[in-house]
Amino acid sequence: MRDAGRTLPRNDPRQYDDLAGEWWRPDGAFAMLHWLAEARAALVPPATRPDALLVDIGCGAGLLAPHLAGKGYRHVGVDLTRSALRQAAAHGVTAVNGDATAVPLADGCADVVAAGEILEHVPDWRRAVAEACRLLRPGGLFVLDTLNDTALSRLLAVRIAERLPTVPRGIHDPRLFVDARALVAECAGHGVELRLRGIRPGVPGLVGWLARRLRTGDRSVGTGPAPRIVPTWSTAVLYQGRGVRSG
Ligand SMILES: C[S@@+](CC[C@H](N)C(=O)[O-])C[C@H]1O[C@@H](n2cnc3c(N)ncnc32)[C@H](O)[C@@H]1O
Repeated sequence: MRDAGRTLPRNDPRQYDDLAGEWWRPDGAFAMLHWLAEARAALVPPATRPDALLVDIGCGAGLLAPHLAGKGYRHVGVDLTRSALRQAAAHGVTAVNGDATAVPLADGCADVVAAGEILEHVPDWRRAVAEACRLLRPGGLFVLDTLNDTALSRLLAVRIAERLPTVPRGIHDPRLFVDARALVAECAGHGVELRLRGIRPGVPGLVGWLARRLRTGDRSVGTGPAPRIVPTWSTAVLYQGRGVRSG
């Protein structure tokens, strides 16, 4: 398994520079982000007007881009990490270097704001949510996925997942995980009624992928289906949110 390559504090964004070569490897350290991007994009309907804008907060290397193809959005990605933004730009994303808590874009500019696997990395996630909602035009759609602030989440997403090839070691600081109820309340305060659902990798796909990945080490796992992200009954670990801004 790959880790961040040097000793950095948990959630230190410099880990993304150390792992820059991993983003677009479908079976690399960020493999699960590919599966999650596909599931997130499924929440985004085709654009209903020309020049529709999707703002992807914490876009990383733009893994959402291929899954938005044909939906009719201009895809703007905001991220702290320049090495990731360069790759996002190479995949057609308009790259903006900025912080999720102070996004350098205008109020109401976005038809869709996506926040995939970012809120649990931001020390002030409430501020990032306020920014996401600020960017949405009335009627605009907020889609997100993140990790819940529960003991089960800390066990599965940190203690276990970081020992497997699914999650880079040290990438999460569990103290930043996002309480689902608090997130819903925060969004409501900004005019977005968020609906949540739990998600997880499908078990047969994940077991097959892990078996191939552990067998082949750090090389590509080659043929075989990528695990699918499927809905699950509980939001206790990983969850998606979807809500429309009123007004
Ligand atoms: C787990 S990755 C998710 C990337 C992308 N959303 C995806 O799902 O492929 C987290 C990303 O958030 C970025 N990030 C972390 N803290 C940030 C902040 N405060 N503002 C903007 N980006 C941030 C990192 O640079 C990294 O690219």
